[in-house]
Amino acid sequence: MLFVATVYYVKFPEMSRKQAESSSKERQEGKTDPGASRHGNFINYYQFHPAEERVRQLPCGVWRSSHPDRKYVVLDIGCNAGDLTFALHDFLESALSVDQPKEICLLGVDLDPILIERARERNRRPDRIIFECLDFLDEDRNRTLAKYLRRFEKSRFDVVFCFSVVMWIHLNHGDEGLVKFLQKVCSITDMVVVEPQLWKCYRNASRRLRRLKGEEFPLLKTLKFTGDLTMHIERILTESCNFRKVTVTGENEWKRRLLIYERT
Ligand SMILES: C[S@@+](CC[C@H](N)C(=O)[O-])C[C@H]1O[C@@H](n2cnc3c(N)ncnc32)[C@H](O)[C@@H]1O
Repeated sequence: MLFVATVYYVKFPEMSRKQAESSSKERQEGKTDPGASRHGNFINYYQFHPAEERVRQLPCGVWRSSHPDRKYVVLDIGCNAGDLTFALHDFLESALSVDQPKEICLLGVDLDPILIERARERNRRPDRIIFECLDFLDEDRNRTLAKYLRRFEKSRFDVVFCFSVVMWIHLNHGDEGLVKFLQKVCSITDMVVVEPQLWKCYRNASRRLRRLKGEEFPLLKTLKFTGDLTMHIERILTESCNFRKVTVTGENEWKRRLLIYERT
């Protein structure tokens, strides 16, 4: 077992040893490898990316609401099994309590029905957090999002979080899909938080999909937004979405920054 895990670790150096050991175990048991996925819908993602560490990167004091008298309404796109969604709820509750105590209401969406089922089963705040299965690139999302916002008499979310989801949108829908995604996100929110993945993650995702499932991302070779994804995303947010920068955080341990932008 140690040998198999070591081979895995050498093959996928960006995985932690713990992740490599788990991968090799799952493969020996005939389960799907968690390192190969078409949409980033890894079933045990939070075993390797603890949610609490991720929210530590978020600044306090930037979370404004255009309706200070109403609830603070949040969308988490690509919520996976919900761990980060729960941590975001708790973070915002304490961040907003300093000068404008508010009820935080959060909608987590993901295209994977199994992950949504998991998130619902483990939901410890069903009064504040709900999960819906939808593909954010699908027009059908509008009905679900509009229905949710209506509950709070709002036409837009206060903030939309896009953590580690943009690369999967980009790989599956190309440059045009990425621009459409960000334009749609900005059209339904006053503030957006994007965690772009590094270009090396694109190559790794593609290599794993090819090696482990014999599949490709057909649009990868057509992409013109390559290299520094942060720069491309910032340009789309300012030039195509008319949003302005609130702040960009320092890098976390995987060298990822959070881009925080708002409606002008
Ligand atoms: C790598 S995980 C990141 C999970 C979480 N956002 C985080 O950072 O902890 C990416 C998630 O995005 C979801 N996803 C990918 N494309 C999506 C889409 N078009 N619509 C909704 N969810 C999507 C995947 O199913 C997966 O659960």
